[in-house]
Amino acid sequence: MKKKGVFIAVEGIDGAGKTTQACMLVKKLRQMGYEAAYTTEPTYGRVGDLLRLHVSKQKPRAPLYEALLFAADRFEHVKREIQPKLRRGLVVVSDRYLYSSLAYQGAAGVSLPWLREVNFFAPKPDLTFYIDISPAKSLKRKAGKVGAYESLSYQKKVRKIYLDMAEEEGFTVLEGEKGAEELHRDMLSKVLKLLPKPRKGGG
Ligand code: TMP
Repeated sequence: MKKKGVFIAVEGIDGAGKTTQACMLVKKLRQMGYEAAYTTEPTYGRVGDLLRLHVSKQKPRAPLYEALLFAADRFEHVKREIQPKLRRGLVVVSDRYLYSSLAYQGAAGVSLPWLREVNFFAPKPDLTFYIDISPAKSLKRKAGKVGAYESLSYQKKVRKIYLDMAEEEGFTVLEGEKGAEELHRDMLSKVLKLLPKPRKGGG
């Protein structure tokens, strides 16, 4: 069946403000009368729970294992949540998506073409935001939450892959050091360009 909704991905290194922005966007769209859904990766499904447990622990990296688990989690996410909602015409906002695997597992040494292959089923978003902050800022914002993903040199590699992809794939790059409200306005104006007028009843 043909897709009718609009699919938006929000990406960035740890602490960039993705979750805040994705939630603000969905809330605002709903207030305006659009049907919008927030969703996230890792998901809250079985594989996502396993992944969250895994990434919260400081342990030796297992990049291929992680790449496969993230892909399995994404497969469920796409089939059970994203595609059904898009078919119903919703605006779906995903807090992290495919590009997180390319950036994070890519930075951990996994081949980018292989990662793309393993994620072949993942549809391309209509719009991808990359919220850019410096790796130093990322560590500062995440201070106290030590995880497997947070060394400065690693975050630098992750950011480099994101910025390369942003150029190649035409992501909308946003300055993450701006205030949350300003970032929100920038994102909203981009999104509204893709949407028809809202249905009556939005407040
Ligand atoms: P979160 O902090 O946005 O909830 O994401 C959890 C961690 O999972 C974050 O450090 C990035 C990492 N991650 C990957 O390494 N690959 C992926 O494909 C995804 C979705 C997340």
